[in-house]
Amino acid sequence: MELKEAGIGEGISEVIVTTKSASGMPNAAPIGIITVINEGTGEPLHFVKLYKGSQTLANVLETNMLAANVTDDAVIFVKAAFEHLSEAHFADFAGVPVLAKANAWIAFTSVLIEERSDYLHFQVLPRAVKINRKEIKAINRGLNAAIEAAILATRFDITKDEREKKEMRKLMERYAEIVKKCGSRREKEAMGILKEKFFKGSGF
Ligand SMILES: Cc1cc2nc3c(=O)[nH]c(=O)nc-3n(C[C@H](O)[C@H](O)[C@H](O)COP(=O)(O)O)c2cc1C
Repeated sequence: MELKEAGIGEGISEVIVTTKSASGMPNAAPIGIITVINEGTGEPLHFVKLYKGSQTLANVLETNMLAANVTDDAVIFVKAAFEHLSEAHFADFAGVPVLAKANAWIAFTSVLIEERSDYLHFQVLPRAVKINRKEIKAINRGLNAAIEAAILATRFDITKDEREKKEMRKLMERYAEIVKKCGSRREKEAMGILKEKFFKGSGF
């Protein structure tokens, strides 16, 4: 099944992964879908690395299912990373919860291929695809910077080393400048949430 049309190409595609627990509770988190092109066949293969401790990993281990939601909404990335999205955000697609407003949905089955000390590596096999909306968009540095800032914020909390934290604050300031200069209101709102949550009183 070719996912390029749905926005998932070679390299790492940052999406919102939605899952449910065995009891049916939905969850959303930003996750990278890793796509490698098989040199022999030219076929794309898809993988995810799920770090230990996340609800996403717990749900995938319980159900062997996940969905990729393709969106460029920076606020959704930040909220899915740090808050619980309310039930109103979710719809159902092929038996998995998805984000109702996403541009495309891909439902996957997961196959565990390797366990490492800090993450589990899965191959993910697409079983259903739905494209809701095709968007043509020029690159916006503000969006890219807001996504980098969100990744940094998820790592900030688990970083113990003070020197490393100082470096992260410097990077965060740089991303904030780019968002201020290039971003839309949506990216500015996302940065506002990040600042409020993680960098209040930390010199940022
Ligand atoms: C853009 C972006 C990409 C991310 N990619 C991954 C990933 O590939 N694997 C992972 O385990 N965590 C990744 N994270 C971190 C998780 O989203 C984060 O730990 C989240 O809080 C997990 O939520 P959950 O406990 O609801 O699953 C990423 C975060 C961001 C902002």
